[in-house]
Formats: sequence, structure tokens, C-alpha cells
Amino acid sequence: MSSASFDFAPLLPAGLPAPAARWTGLAKYSFVGGNNDPEQVPVDGLIEAASAVLGREGKTLATYGLAHGPQGYRPLREFLSAKLKRDAAINCTADDILIVSGSLQALDLVNATLLSRGDTVIMEQDSYQGSLNRLTRLGVNAVGIPLDREGMRIDALETALIDLKRRGVTPKYIYTIPTVQNPTGTIMPEARRAELLRLSQDYGVPVFEDDCYADLIWDGKRPPAIHAMSKNGGVIHIGSFSKSIAPALRVGFIVAPWEMLSRMLALKTDAGSGALEQMVLAEYCAPHFAAHVPKLTRGLRAKLDTLMEALNEQFGTAAEFEAPKGGIFLWVKLPDHVDTLKLYQAALAAGVSINPGPEWSTSKAHAYSRLRLCFASPSHEQIREGIAVLAEVCRKEFGVPARIANVEKRARTSS
Ligand SMILES: Cc1ncc(COP(=O)(O)O)c(C=O)c1O
Repeated sequence: MSSASFDFAPLLPAGLPAPAARWTGLAKYSFVGGNNDPEQVPVDGLIEAASAVLGREGKTLATYGLAHGPQGYRPLREFLSAKLKRDAAINCTADDILIVSGSLQALDLVNATLLSRGDTVIMEQDSYQGSLNRLTRLGVNAVGIPLDREGMRIDALETALIDLKRRGVTPKYIYTIPTVQNPTGTIMPEARRAELLRLSQDYGVPVFEDDCYADLIWDGKRPPAIHAMSKNGGVIHIGSFSKSIAPALRVGFIVAPWEMLSRMLALKTDAGSGALEQMVLAEYCAPHFAAHVPKLTRGLRAKLDTLMEALNEQFGTAAEFEAPKGGIFLWVKLPDHVDTLKLYQAALAAGVSINPGPEWSTSKAHAYSRLRLCFASPSHEQIREGIAVLAEVCRKEFGVPARIANVEKRARTSS
């Protein structure tokens, strides 16, 4: 578009977020975002499903919400209620589910329903940037709870709840990603989920359970959802097809009591999420989802192995990590003096994009030398090459790793 001279700036209301940067394309070696493996999108199945469902029901597109009501395409909600029962032990019907435009919209709707500026919420210390950014924008105070190998630490949660109560603060919710946590990859065991629920009940704080990676577990075994274990209905559960099928579809869902769903529906002003995606997903998933997922996770697991091998080879002991039990991310710790925000800039200039830790944590100090790598979207070859470039950049900027691919760097350059 030609650069026009009309000046919109004086018309902009106060409090708008900073303007978005123009998209300049993906880096050559892209380890960022929650993107999935392009080879694993079930394209043929989706084509078949689209053709079948459009042939049969295409004319219903003439009506907003397909005449299935504002909660979304009913066969998709029915698929979800059966799937959630089977996989996560959640007992819900299609009427307890609201289909949304990706679970990002779920975050917005839950936040719009419950939060005001100045409120406090509790969350895992290292957490999803999309959730953290939303809270910052809303002026909400996020209290971070440290994690261990089993997810959010219950002792630290209890201490935070006691402390907040002493100060007269009742947090609006405890946000958790309990099943393949983003970014740490931990899975909260059932016993810890029960303890979390006990604290939620004792302190009158609901749980906001974000389960968008729950399908991507290597051995396919997951604990029951916190929602399923709750006896008082105080859990809002959200999920997504982004990680199991494809993120560009923008289809997620919320399971919550009608008291909350009805409030969220009143705030969902887009006249329904994209119907075509919902129709195609329902048609594809009912017969194919159960077989698609293990194939997808096998491929992801192989990519994780490639990434861990590449890191071991290129960074040696300078890169520390715990192998996640599923998902698409590896959370990596580099030596304390490595500033991953700086590393991010230098790596990007060399064609490698990474997610610097401080953007994924309530504690910038804790995450200073940590980074998140998505292993789902790059190919095996890109993973190997990209990590080699990253190691070289890191060595130039920070002097680590001193040895790359088992070659002493200083010794080699001086010879
Ligand atoms: C924990 C978590 N929640 C929600 C989302 C949003 O996913 P979507 O809107 O694609 O469903 C993501 C995306 O990466 C995520 O990691």
C-alpha cells in the first residue's frame, strides 16, 4: 500500500499495546514458537474429511454457528466429550464445552471473565509466554511458583497462599500446565494434583488447567485431568487441537461449569469460531485421532533425541536439560553468565531463532541463562545444523562451550 499521509496517531486511545512488528519470515533454523512438524499434518485425511463433511453438510454454512448454537459444531463437542472421558477421565457432555479460536481465545475469555487490573493470580514460575504477556497487559500480578520434576511445587504453592492470605490477597486462580508443562516438559503426578486441589479448596481459589500438550506423551499414559479429580467444580479446563493436529487451524476448547461458560459466551463476540475447521476436525478426528497421535508422538520423540544428541555433541556439559516426557519443547540451562536475551539476538543474526528464557518466566533472574527450543518444526537436519551454529555463536559471545563437537576450540584456533 502507498504510504498515505493521514495521521491516525492522535485518534488512538490510551493504553493500546505496543504496535506489532512486521513479519519478516522464519529464521533458517527456527526453534521458536509452538509450531508442529509439517510432515505430520494428516493432510490426506483432512482433505477426505473436508470433502465428505462439505458434501454432506456444506449448506449449513449459510447460518451463523451452523445452527448448532454459539458453543460450536456439535459433532466436534461430542467427539471431545468422548475423548476427554477416555483420555483424561473428565465427565462432561457436549453442553459443558465451548469451542474457541485456539486456546489463546480461551485464555482471553477466562481472563476477561475473572480478572481486573490489580488482581493477583498464581502460576508456575516458568510458564507460557502467551499467558504471562496477557497478565502483564491486564495489569495483573502473577506470583510464580517454582517447579521441580513433578511440576508446580506444592510446598511453595502453600507458602505463597499463606503469604497472600496474610496480606489480605485472594488470588483469582491458580494457572497450571500440569500435563507436559510449557516450557519445562514436566507431568504432574496424580498425588500432586490431589494436593493442589486440596489447597485450591482450602483457600477458595479455582484452578485454571491448561492441557494443550496432554496428547503428546511418549508412552501415551497421562494422569487424570485436575478437572476430573475435582469434587467441587472449581476447575476450568482448556485444550487445543493446535498441538495434536495443526496450530494454524485455530481450534481450542473450554470445559467449565455453565455459570462460567455462560459468562464467557457473553464475552465471545466473534459470532462463533471458524466453522469449516470445526467440521473438518470432527469428521477427521472421530475415526482417525486415536491412530494419528501415537504416530505423531513417535516422530516428535525421534526429533527430541536428535536435539539432545546435537546439544550433547555441540555444547557438552555446558547445556543442561531434563528429557521431557512429551511435547515439543526442551528447556535448556546454559552456564550462569550466558544472557540468553543477548544470545537470542546474536543467534538470530546467524539464522537461528530461539526463545530466550526470561520471556517464559515470572523470574527473569532464574531464567537469565535458560532457553526454550521447539524441536517439532525443524527437520532432523535443521536441528543438527542449527544447534551447531548456535554453539558457535554462543562460544563467540560468551566463551562457552569451550569444546565444540569434542574439539578444544582455543587449541584448534592457535594451531
Ligand atoms: C500452554 C499453552 N497454552 C495455550 C497455547 C495457545 O495455543 P492455541 O491458541 O494454538 O490453542 C499454547 C501455545 O503454544 C501453549 O503453549
